Amino acid sequence: MAINITLTVNGESRSHEVEPRLLLSHYLRDTLGLTGTHIGCDTSNCGACTIMVDGKAVKSCTLLAVQADGSKVVTIEGLAQNGSLHPLQEGFKEKHGLQCGFCTPGMIMTAADLLDRNPNPTEKEIREALEGNFCRCTGYHNIVKAIQYAAEHA
Ligand code: FES
Ligand code: FES
Repeated sequence: MAINITLTVNGESRSHEVEPRLLLSHYLRDTLGLTGTHIGCDTSNCGACTIMVDGKAVKSCTLLAVQADGSKVVTIEGLAQNGSLHPLQEGFKEKHGLQCGFCTPGMIMTAADLLDRNPNPTEKEIREALEGNFCRCTGYHNIVKAIQYAAEHA
């Protein structure tokens, strides 16, 4: 039995019939083609699938698509505005906050939530905010610097 959902994704209204068991992460990637949201574990551990739902960072593999009915979703594809990178995207580029880049979209969405709540976080606060996002490549040092760069250039 499919259920009709309507939500706003990156400023655009989207409506689809979906299976009740469909994860939001799969809806974004497979139905909408927004493959910047990565799936690293499917078990709520890695944070690669992090997006914003109604202004809060959420791991999209922990929500069903039907639970997002009526909400406002922002994915990594929705951060750049009018062809300009978001300060966090700029920061990851400037400070080499990535190697393989698989974790990067989730890191950026988590950091966007942090900077919304706390525009001038300390290094400790940044590291705490990233607790739910795993990066296997960079040791987090450049990721922290990238977020500090974004806080300074927002
Ligand atoms: S894929 Fe969602 S937390 Fe890993
Ligand atoms: S840059 Fe490779 S896992 Fe983060």
